[in-house]
Amino acid sequence: MSWKILVVLFIGLLAWSYKALCPPPALICGSLRGPPITAPRIKLRDGRHLAYKEHGVSKDIAKYKIILVHGFLSSRHEGSLTKSELVEKLGIYFVSFDRPGYGQSDPDPKRTMKSTALDIEELADQLGLGPKFFVVGFSMGGQLIWGCLKYIPHRLAGATLIAPVVNYWWSSFPANLSKEAYYQQSLRDQWALRVAHYAPWLLYWWDTQQWFPSSSVANGMPNFTAPDLKVLRELRSIAEPGYATQQGKYESLHRDMMIGFGKWDFDPMELENPFTDTEGSVHLWHGDEDGIVPVTLQRFVAQKLQWIQYHEVPNAGHLFAHADHAKDAILNTLLVGKE
Ligand SMILES: *[C@@H]1O[C@H](CO)[C@@H](O)[C@H](O)[C@H]1NC(C)=O
Ligand SMILES: *[C@@H]1O[C@H](CO)[C@@H](O)[C@H](O)[C@H]1NC(C)=O
Repeated sequence: MSWKILVVLFIGLLAWSYKALCPPPALICGSLRGPPITAPRIKLRDGRHLAYKEHGVSKDIAKYKIILVHGFLSSRHEGSLTKSELVEKLGIYFVSFDRPGYGQSDPDPKRTMKSTALDIEELADQLGLGPKFFVVGFSMGGQLIWGCLKYIPHRLAGATLIAPVVNYWWSSFPANLSKEAYYQQSLRDQWALRVAHYAPWLLYWWDTQQWFPSSSVANGMPNFTAPDLKVLRELRSIAEPGYATQQGKYESLHRDMMIGFGKWDFDPMELENPFTDTEGSVHLWHGDEDGIVPVTLQRFVAQKLQWIQYHEVPNAGHLFAHADHAKDAILNTLLVGKE
């Protein structure tokens, strides 16, 4: 083969791999090819828009105001906590929002744990929620509550993390403990997390190629355990996944994985109690049969942070918070201080 052909082949290969590695641009909401804007949205400090949804009692009469942070592959439509009898009884207002790149919120290619905490603060301020508000996050959204505790603790009236995703690379974990939990995952998930952590630039390709199976959760096949399947049977619909990623998977799911399992600029296990008085509390809920986030690691986090109230739910999986009795207990402990 002449060198000219080799050069042409080489350039062709480069072009092909460049195309395969590069995610397509996000389909921005309201743009010509993008989905329409139908949700109320606020404009943030850098010009991005954040779409939100209000639930519960009107904020003008509410006694408690809670910002809900949704999980992976979900959106502002995830509001099962808002369907509790306590909402009317206690007077609770909720606002949920599409996280950047999800649903109708603009992508944030510069997204960090800190920027999301600041987005939450700005949402509260633009909606006039007052100097302090509650935050509740589920799964990947629960992980973002660590960012609120780190970057906007002075704005919080209280916080609840529900089955928050752990990062196996947080430095406070003893190596043997995180390793043991890491290798209990399926091979496909071990590889997906390795790519997210060590080679995030490869993640789009990894998750869209057809040669190896990629992340089970990103591909709609999470390790749900028996209690989860029971909850799923009772739930009529889980927040519309098509809506969550309508602007593309890259700035929603892949960005979530890169941040969640990437290198953090702080370790949650080194956080200080944000509430030095008795005014507020922080709760962490986890099911002992969670097949997605290892309970062994969550126990370690809870034991490190003595100021956190840890509630381990027996015979419960990742989705236990969608069950009715759990909702009431979660709201009661956070707002009233008892189950
Ligand atoms: C990890 O190592 C520590 C100290 O050597 C030990 O006490 C602990 O039981 C080990 N944990 C696991 C999960 O192997
Ligand atoms: C699924 O979850 C169960 C229960 O936590 C766990 O024992 C198992 O190792 C998990 N399997 C995978 C492939 O993640």
